[in-house]
Amino acid sequence: MAINFIGTGRAVPPKRVSNDDLAAQLDTSDEWIRSHTGIGNRHIADENITCSDLAAEAARNAMAMAAGYTGEDLTERNKAAAEIAPTIDMIVLATVTPDYFGTPSAACIVQEKIGAKNAAAMDIIAGCTGFVYGLETAAGLLSVNPQRKRALVIGAELLSKMINWDDRATCVLFGDGAGAALIEKTDGSGGLKHTLMSADGSGHESLLFRRGGTRYPFKKGEVIDTGICVEMNGQEVYNFAVKAVTDTIGALMKTKIDGYAEIKMDDITRIVPHQANLRIVQAAAKRLKIPFEKIYMNIEEYANTSSATIPIALDELNRSGEIKKGDLIFTVGFGGGLTYGGNIIIW
Ligand code: UT7
Repeated sequence: MAINFIGTGRAVPPKRVSNDDLAAQLDTSDEWIRSHTGIGNRHIADENITCSDLAAEAARNAMAMAAGYTGEDLTERNKAAAEIAPTIDMIVLATVTPDYFGTPSAACIVQEKIGAKNAAAMDIIAGCTGFVYGLETAAGLLSVNPQRKRALVIGAELLSKMINWDDRATCVLFGDGAGAALIEKTDGSGGLKHTLMSADGSGHESLLFRRGGTRYPFKKGEVIDTGICVEMNGQEVYNFAVKAVTDTIGALMKTKIDGYAEIKMDDITRIVPHQANLRIVQAAAKRLKIPFEKIYMNIEEYANTSSATIPIALDELNRSGEIKKGDLIFTVGFGGGLTYGGNIIIW
């Protein structure tokens, strides 16, 4: 049995905000943001867009690809996606910025939007490692039940609505976007070969949305003049992240998978890391002596889209033909929780 990738998709809002645009209204600069993070731009959704809107768009693109359509015509794309929708058994949506707090899941709203009427639907919260966790969750649930064949795994975030736009230490870092992969259980080979999923809950306060949950609920009479916003101890998370990326890639390379006595650096076509900070990835690459051209970065264009960074990157690589059937791919995620992990995929 194999868990193969039969379609990928992404959805990024058209509105592009550069570092200079932010510097026009905030005490920051293009030079600071680029030199500290590698970020040049981010895409920001319009006010009326929700997480499930972006997720559904990415999902439709993945479904259309699975049906054989990769063109730009939206009517044709929707027709192709609609063919696939009823065949989907499960939607696993990784997000920290769902449409609603707690319930309903954003995945249920996506299920309705894309017409996947036979699909179970749930969100998972694993911070920026969400897509890595989501792939393993969906693959595991496909494996244990012969009735289940196809799952949509999505990472989607609207961080622009959950940022304090007056806090230069966080607001310059994040962007909006969604990426999706349609996976299928087959008798073939390749696909998702192995996943490493880890967490260190002792760091749960290093990156969080503090208010609104049962720890710090809103109270009657309390005057709230900001939205629920991401808070981060940047340096703590940075140190954790460099170790997490280094350890994860190291552990993935030691994994035994079919067809490889051991995985050597030359065997890996691409490493697709979570895009939080170029310096984190550079530091890990230096420690592991990884040629940097093996690592795919698009942080310059999208900034940190949390659980969406890895599936957006996979879709870019897939659509551009930069990854091909049979290529060995590592993903590496890290983020709130604190969580970290990675996937080994034979494309
Ligand atoms: O995706 C989830 C996981 N998240 C991460 O992995 C993020 C991990 N952390 C990081 O990437 C980095 O810690 C940051 C990019 C968040 C911050 O970079 P840093 O090099 O650790 O900067 P810092 O927080 O130590 O701040 C250095 C200085 C401070 O000024 P002083 O105190 O030295 O005078 C900040 O006030 O930079 C200042 N600063 C800024 N200056 C201009 C902070 N943000 C900005 C800004 N523009 N946007």
